Amino acid sequence: MDELFAKMQAKFDELFGTDPDIRRYFAPGRVNLIGEHTDYNGGHVFPCALTIGTYGLARKRQDRKLRFYSMNFSRAGLIESSLDDLTPSEKAGWTNYPKGVVWTFAKRGYVCDTGFDFLIYGTIPSGSGLSSSASLEVLTGTVLRDLYGFSQLSNVDLALIGQYSENNFNGMNCGIMDQFASAMGKKDCAIFLDTSTLNYEYANIVLENAKIVITNSKVKHSLVNSAYNDRRRECETALAQLKKVVDINSLGDLDEATFEANKAVITDDICRRRARHAVYENQRTLRAVEALKRKDITEFGRLINESHVSLRDDYETSCPECDLLAELAWKHPGVLGSRITGGGFGGCTVSIVENDQVDSFIQNIGKAYKDQVGHEAEFYVVEIGDGARRL
Ligand code: GLA
Repeated sequence: MDELFAKMQAKFDELFGTDPDIRRYFAPGRVNLIGEHTDYNGGHVFPCALTIGTYGLARKRQDRKLRFYSMNFSRAGLIESSLDDLTPSEKAGWTNYPKGVVWTFAKRGYVCDTGFDFLIYGTIPSGSGLSSSASLEVLTGTVLRDLYGFSQLSNVDLALIGQYSENNFNGMNCGIMDQFASAMGKKDCAIFLDTSTLNYEYANIVLENAKIVITNSKVKHSLVNSAYNDRRRECETALAQLKKVVDINSLGDLDEATFEANKAVITDDICRRRARHAVYENQRTLRAVEALKRKDITEFGRLINESHVSLRDDYETSCPECDLLAELAWKHPGVLGSRITGGGFGGCTVSIVENDQVDSFIQNIGKAYKDQVGHEAEFYVVEIGDGARRL
């Protein structure tokens, strides 16, 4: 860690000049255990913050310039903007995320009176679906709150600001899960969040005999944002039709039986399948959290497997590579559950693996995946960390 900060500090000094008041911040990525594509359907999610994420060094400026540098995209160089130019643009590249957060702060009356210098370094593999963008948004919020003294903002506010910014500045209609996990994460805990009320509960997730393993397929299929936005629209269409026959605000209000009894009102087969996923996945999430409370890891794992099948067949957000990873995992000894995690169309699977099988899981699945797909997968044994903070 010290070595990382020394490198970041040296780069900061080189680009922006030295200053005793350069502050350090961190915001984590997340992995979702269950409750996928439920967060914009008024359902429940169950993510945890990771110990990987985005680090930032920042300092207020005297003028109105915004100067950004990412040590992950050093070829993009120093990207300069200004408080008077808060509009998204292609040429702004990754800086559209922090700029969107500055813009959202201003929209809510939290106006930065001067610009700032901001250097970041992310440890989340890019395109992995482990929420590098949400961590950057929440990181920026954490920086602004601290530098400009907006101390009345809570971490939940920072999550909402990040989501608003991503929806309205970056054009991705995401739900609240990723930003919430990044802002509100807690060491060794998953967050059981009701996205219709933002009520949440921490659940200790130190499993006695098993570990959570993330497998990165290292594929990212194109048009992810537009396919995601399509799913959202399809769910909205199904909800509007269901509302004609049942008194609900969101798909999260329905249990399976009520859905089955009324699903015929959804005229389009695709929309009906999307809604079925949203309803069943939400109920699975409630059951999974109950199972975990009873320490019934077998049932928890079974529900995780069901989640994958539903995402693959009804929601169609999996991909052949992640299907392969899940199937290999299901057949492997000591695996309690495995499924694609996050927005989908590539990215990672999450698996619950018995301690004494973790090494052979990584070895065997790594080899089978390479043989069949042609490139290596990457594995991370999860450590659950705390949410965003100044360091
Ligand atoms: C992405 C979005 C989240 C959520 C997941 C799917 O990560 O950012 O809001 O919808 O996909 O569960």
